[in-house]
Amino acid sequence: MLPPAPIFLTTALLAASATLAVSTSTEAACDEIAAATPERVWSNRLSRTYYSEVNSYWSTTLRDAKPACLVLPQSAEEVAAAVRILNKYPDVQFAVKSGGHTPNERHSSVRDGVLISTRDLSGVTYDEETQIATVRPGGEWNDVIGPLDEQGVTVVGGRLGLVGVGGYLLQGGISFLSAQYGLAADSIVGWEMVAANGTILNIDASEEPELAVALRGSGSQFGIVTQFKIKAYPVAKVWGGTRIYDGGKASEIYSALHNFVPGNADDEKAAIILTDITAVGGTKLFLIFYFYDGPEPPTTGPFAQFLNIGSTLDTTSTQSYSALLKSNGESAELLQSRISFRTFTLPYVPDAPHMYSEISDKFTFLIKDILKSPLRLTSQCSIDFQPFPAIIGKHSQERGGNAMGIAGSDLDRILLEIQCSWLAGSDDEVFHDASRELVEWLAIKVPEWTKGVKYYLPYLMNDAAGDQNVTGTYQGYGKFKALQERMDPAGFFKKRGGGFVY
Ligand SMILES: Cc1cc2nc3c(=O)[nH]c(=O)nc-3n(C[C@H](O)[C@H](O)[C@H](O)COP(=O)(O)OP(=O)(O)OC[C@H]3O[C@@H](n4cnc5c(N)ncnc54)[C@H](O)[C@@H]3O)c2cc1C
Ligand SMILES: *[C@@H]1O[C@H](CO)[C@@H](O)[C@H](O)[C@H]1NC(C)=O
Ligand SMILES: *[C@@H]1O[C@H](CO)[C@@H](O)[C@H](O)[C@H]1NC(C)=O
Repeated sequence: MLPPAPIFLTTALLAASATLAVSTSTEAACDEIAAATPERVWSNRLSRTYYSEVNSYWSTTLRDAKPACLVLPQSAEEVAAAVRILNKYPDVQFAVKSGGHTPNERHSSVRDGVLISTRDLSGVTYDEETQIATVRPGGEWNDVIGPLDEQGVTVVGGRLGLVGVGGYLLQGGISFLSAQYGLAADSIVGWEMVAANGTILNIDASEEPELAVALRGSGSQFGIVTQFKIKAYPVAKVWGGTRIYDGGKASEIYSALHNFVPGNADDEKAAIILTDITAVGGTKLFLIFYFYDGPEPPTTGPFAQFLNIGSTLDTTSTQSYSALLKSNGESAELLQSRISFRTFTLPYVPDAPHMYSEISDKFTFLIKDILKSPLRLTSQCSIDFQPFPAIIGKHSQERGGNAMGIAGSDLDRILLEIQCSWLAGSDDEVFHDASRELVEWLAIKVPEWTKGVKYYLPYLMNDAAGDQNVTGTYQGYGKFKALQERMDPAGFFKKRGGGFVY
């Protein structure tokens, strides 16, 4: 039986508005931004520009969140105009997107709100005299590292060339070059940024050291960055690539990892990303990204210990830095999956070399039944073990420091990136839950392993899940929160812009 007509009508209208729930104020804001910045605003979901931008999110999950309009500014002035108009519409939500590589919902995506993408603010220029690169937030690391490479220099940046620039730099950024020069954000010396009130600020790190520290690792809460000034470093031929190992090599690989983390301080040119993968049916394998800042890797020492382990596939070679980053990104481009990230900062405990296999086994235990289903043939989960030696904190401090607050006097650490990829939206909860359970388990296990030794274990924002309180792990939390509130008293970014907040 059909319900009485008025109820039926209301339900039908509600259903229709659920798919197109754009408020009149959001529509008005979009119209006003379109009038102020002609040819920069797209509201038609079927237009090629709107469609391609919304479908460029790396995690397919985010492609479902359709903004009311897309704004593609071509200058800081146009960003400022959009911000000033948004200030007139306090109930309108917005998001800022650079590469769109965060898998977290409501960070660089917004449903029915205003999406400001820096796509047309991309590329790099280099000033040889000052050794400063001017880097814009749009595009991907390939667009920055490629042109710089031709001039024999580089900036501390992404390890996989396809990754976006703006969000990476604002959240800290761990790089193959971090043991030599610190986090990517540590080498930023200037920001062109649109503040919450729509003013364009040109921030010089040497003039505003306190703000500079906050900007290195706080994400999107201080302003919309339209340009970064970054100290460049010389680069020539490098050695690197990937090797794949079968699960049987686990103990050799974990032993090499355990020696490498403290050894990194004596060999700052070496870097790895150790990915411990559990694929369908619980099959284990390892994918290791290798990097050495020189034409040949060393033949002795902790890095060489890795290189002596027999692999089943090997793409390592001597090549240009830009060629390496480009090829590192190619497989990640093909994922086309829903993705989860979750991070944990693991202390390096010299007398606990058993930690890595315990962590790996626990995660396999948590996900093996999920991965058994024949409906999840292309799903996989992994843990990246990323050495994070105290030497990175030393270089960070030398450059003025970052929001994460790492120091050379800290104990060594390993950053864990817990990742899953899957296809069906109905699987979102199972995969998020498994990663969350691993982190909850780690929070209990770590004190057992460290036996009362005090570690400072802040999270790396780049790798975190949206529900992780990243800024709460920073020792300067209170100070940065106060500064954020001074610069954004109405909560323009904090309440309306998405992303991690203080
Ligand atoms: C394949 C892959 C490899 C990765 N490798 C690394 C790695 O080696 N090291 C590492 O540290 N991280 C790595 N990451 C994580 C990466 O740093 C984050 O996903 C980061 O968000 C990517 O930057 P983006 O520009 O694509 O961010 P987006 O998704 O566009 O944005 C992320 C956040 O930053 C904000 N934001 C973006 N641009 C601006 C801007 N101009 N002004 C103000 N706020 C802005 C957004 O609002 C959002 O909150 C990797 C990610 C992927 C998918
Ligand atoms: C995050 O952590 C900080 C510091 O511990 C705390 O003050 C804050 O309330 C936390 N925020 C949330 C949303 O839990
Ligand atoms: C806008 O905000 C910035 C950053 O907090 C501040 O320096 C500036 O004075 C503000 N401008 C106005 C007009 O209030």
